[in-house]
Amino acid sequence: MSRQPKPLITQGKINQAVANLAAEINRDYRGKQPLLIGILKGSFVFMADLVRQLDLPIEVDFVKLSSYGSGTRTSGKVKVVQGLKSPIKGKDVLIVEDIVDTGLTISFLMDNLRKKRPASLKLCVLVDKPSEHKVPVTIDYLGFTVPDKFIVGYGIDWNEKFRQLPDICIID
Ligand code: IMP
Ligand code: MG
Repeated sequence: MSRQPKPLITQGKINQAVANLAAEINRDYRGKQPLLIGILKGSFVFMADLVRQLDLPIEVDFVKLSSYGSGTRTSGKVKVVQGLKSPIKGKDVLIVEDIVDTGLTISFLMDNLRKKRPASLKLCVLVDKPSEHKVPVTIDYLGFTVPDKFIVGYGIDWNEKFRQLPDICIID
């Protein structure tokens, strides 16, 4: 794998997409107090930028899931490494995820959270790779669609590296 990341989606394009997503969320959740649940670690940069453009009385929480070994494809076995700190029953929950690839990680989490009876459960994703889905996934708020390339940057890693890059880049 080449270690030289090549920009695919620049910082400016990301900022624009995050602003558009925030505007939609502000509109749809007007009068509500959504709980945003970020999936660690990849969503931390996206979540930080997104919440600062929300004009709503939000709460945030995080879950840490693991599905990858050190390879580049999900193992399909998803594990909750760190769970939620407070109950979500009756809350308007919005999940914030960096990437949907096979969809296995997110569908595992959503099935799990649905059982806890939130008032609503929606999904906000920065980058989707629709050609790779193995299970159906409904994304309510989406930033970008990308082809099946391995990407890094803006919080997203390869073997824990490259999370700090301001652009979303391809490594091959
Ligand atoms: P899925 O279960 O196959 O949808 O995988 C989702 C998770 O795999 C994401 O939350 C990412 O953490 C990771 N992932 C998927 N594609 C990539 C990629 O291109 N670069 C880095 N991580 C990825
Ligand atoms: Mg992730």
